[in-house]
Amino acid sequence: MSKVLILSGAGISAESGISTFRERDGLWEKHRVEDVCSAGCLDTNEDGTKKFYDARRADIKDKVPNYAHKLIVELKHKYPDEISVLTQNIDDLFEKAGMKEHEIVHLHGFLRELRCRECDEIFEIGYINQDEFAGECPSCGGKLRPNVVFFGEAAPEYQKLTQELNRCELIVVIGTSGNVLDVTYFAQLTDYSILNNLEPSDAIDDSYFTKVYYEKATDAIAEIAEYIEDFLEARFV
Ligand code: APR
Repeated sequence: MSKVLILSGAGISAESGISTFRERDGLWEKHRVEDVCSAGCLDTNEDGTKKFYDARRADIKDKVPNYAHKLIVELKHKYPDEISVLTQNIDDLFEKAGMKEHEIVHLHGFLRELRCRECDEIFEIGYINQDEFAGECPSCGGKLRPNVVFFGEAAPEYQKLTQELNRCELIVVIGTSGNVLDVTYFAQLTDYSILNNLEPSDAIDDSYFTKVYYEKATDAIAEIAEYIEDFLEARFV
């Protein structure tokens, strides 16, 4: 378990050109959550749901990591045991910046993967459409689905989040509105906490955070990285 938990959301990838969910022009303004990201929508709207995630996959193909992803990957490689990186994002920008699979947890799934609804086998398909990969599971013939957690579904990776929260001393929250994960509560569980968003969110009480940065992640990240390094090298406290 690590001393520092870095938890990111859609905002960290915004400057790389990937839409956030709840900001103006965000994905949930253009699409209904009930139609494409809710438990049961694979039964009621299978084609529409597939099409939505096919489009998300195609969208990230040419996107490149920004300075915030890169600096976090550098930090993780410098302090592999002291830092844990967990993201709500289903994009692959941390991986494109050099993060290995075992170095990051995707709490809400991963766009480049499909999962069989019957046998749960996971298939890496890159950036192609679901149907281009296969009409059904190559192993058992079951139906395939995006390997993404929908609202109303269990999120198995949250177990790792709980474990990290129980142990970490510093939580760094970057680019999330806090509507899905209660980051205010997380800040209360840890000794030190940093919040970086573009602007305040109704779902976050920033008074619980030790440090708050309302600016672009690429502008804030150097100072945040310095804070993390100082923290780990015990240069303050
Ligand atoms: N730098 C830092 N923060 C930013 C930037 C930026 N350049 N651009 C936007 N933000 C911040 C916004 O201020 C906002 O608080 O990112 C946040 C984006 O919030 P949401 O769109 O709600 O995204 P997120 O919190 O990641 O959503 C959580 O909701 O729909 C589900 O599963 C989906 O993982 C997602 C979850």
